[in-house]
Amino acid sequence: MQRHLITSAIPYINGIKHLGNLVGSQLPADLYARYQRARGNEVLFLCATDEHGTPAELAAAKAGKPVAEYCAEMHAVQAEIAEGFGLSFDHFGRSSSPQNHALTQHFAGRLADAGLIREVVEKQVYSNADGRFLPDRYIEGTCPNCGYDKARGDQCENCTKQLDPTDLIDPRSAVSGSTDLEVRDTKHLYLRQSALKDDLDAWIDSKSDWPILTTSIAKKWLHDGDGLQDRGITRDLDWGIPVRRGDADWPGMEGKVFYVWFDAPIEYIACADEWAQAQGGADWQRWWRTDKGAKDVRYTQFMGKDNVPFHTLSFPATILGSGEPWKMVDHLKSFNYLNYEGGQFSTSQGRGVFMDQALALLPADYWRWWLLSNCPETSDTEFTWELFQQGVNKDLADVLGNFVSRVTKFCRSKFGETVPEGCAFGPQENALIETLNSRMDQYCQLMDKMEVRKSAQELRAIWVAGNEYLQTAAPWATIKEDEAKAAMQIRLGLNLIALYAVLSAPFIPTASARMQDAMNVPDMDWPTDAGEALAKLSPGHAFSVPDNLFGKISDDDRSDWQERFSGIRT
Ligand code: MF3
Ligand code: ZN
Repeated sequence: MQRHLITSAIPYINGIKHLGNLVGSQLPADLYARYQRARGNEVLFLCATDEHGTPAELAAAKAGKPVAEYCAEMHAVQAEIAEGFGLSFDHFGRSSSPQNHALTQHFAGRLADAGLIREVVEKQVYSNADGRFLPDRYIEGTCPNCGYDKARGDQCENCTKQLDPTDLIDPRSAVSGSTDLEVRDTKHLYLRQSALKDDLDAWIDSKSDWPILTTSIAKKWLHDGDGLQDRGITRDLDWGIPVRRGDADWPGMEGKVFYVWFDAPIEYIACADEWAQAQGGADWQRWWRTDKGAKDVRYTQFMGKDNVPFHTLSFPATILGSGEPWKMVDHLKSFNYLNYEGGQFSTSQGRGVFMDQALALLPADYWRWWLLSNCPETSDTEFTWELFQQGVNKDLADVLGNFVSRVTKFCRSKFGETVPEGCAFGPQENALIETLNSRMDQYCQLMDKMEVRKSAQELRAIWVAGNEYLQTAAPWATIKEDEAKAAMQIRLGLNLIALYAVLSAPFIPTASARMQDAMNVPDMDWPTDAGEALAKLSPGHAFSVPDNLFGKISDDDRSDWQERFSGIRT
């Protein structure tokens, strides 16, 4: 039995995620976790909300709530939606957990002890009225380049020019509007990533099986320009993990917190601790400490391409720098972007389809199937309502749903609701078994390699093979001449449904559970041999006819949705 630690990039707390976010990390991670569990392997699948930083503070302020309260509420909302999509996390944690506080402070202490932290005094804008330092994007003013009067201290939204807060004309606080600003000295901690450059380089080089998309991004950061830069890991904010050196105070750092990108990946580890506690004291270190049993763990991370630098360099720098035997990532699966109807999905602009809206339209499996079978794996891909309609109607309704419905209904009307016996399999059935065996083998190899789109294609081909068999065997015609043969054909068909239930479950868990229920097979192991699998339901085994598995998306629905989701979410 293998042991798989699987993490998905942890979504920001501010707001509900769109389908592009979903397909870029959580959904493929879930596919892999479900597959590994189905193969009988031990899996710990973790995700959490990423709760610190300016965006969380801003969103809470906008909602008129204290940040802690806002985060608690949004965590519950995201957890519920994740459940609606069938995301099978073993734990959905929070980066604001006490466990993450302690562990983040622990890492900072270890890094400081190793001489990998330096203190830097910088100049930053302080707002007297707000009684706080303002991050660049909390400062607004007039753009020196285009005259736009709501330019932010980091960038002008209107002309896209990168700015420094001091470039702004008539700067004011975005928090209070106050213009009573001054530039003050403030001390921050920098992680000396440059000192770890060779270690990181060697570590990346040891990952020969990583996708080019991943290693090229890492190499670029390591070698381009002046090479890997030291990184500020603290901020002047209220909300976050207080800067401490392990259990001790950090003189001069009072009132400051760690930067969100420092503590967020540490939550991958802290989340296991949260999980263990929720289990009533399970052993989490056997997943994370190579000195405590994690040597044989295979660790896979899932994320969008914008997250790759943090996972190939910053987080590994934290771990390597600690000098402690933490498990490091074995495989890092990254994704390109999913676009929406000729543009981008955008949270800030409310453009596209958001997870809650999607679930209100159709059950999760429709989305899971389409998104996974079209995921942006080798390049950016596009969601359009037309493509979505086509994919769902063809694959799910016409191929899989139709097969299940025809076989079960035909059986009920001719032989009743038990598996008929009939004669032995003939050449046509044996040919099908051979096809299935080679396709199932291919399917597993692709799933093992996390080739998501190709796996979906292979699964679709497995469904199609059954459909084609049914079409040529034509039990509805056979029965007129040879009832025993028709019975055998239908026995095979019913067994195929049970087989499909197991094979399809990682992609479409709800429909698979319904197929399995209808076929009345509570325990089905992952099939290794099609011939064996198709003999699982013996003659006389009772089954039931499930309600239609998938409805078709009508043209009216499609154009209605296209219209409804053409604007921006308010
Ligand atoms: N919240 C980040 C995003 O949505 C991802 C953080 S992943 C972790 O892009 F590394 F911080 F855990
Ligand atoms: Zn401008």
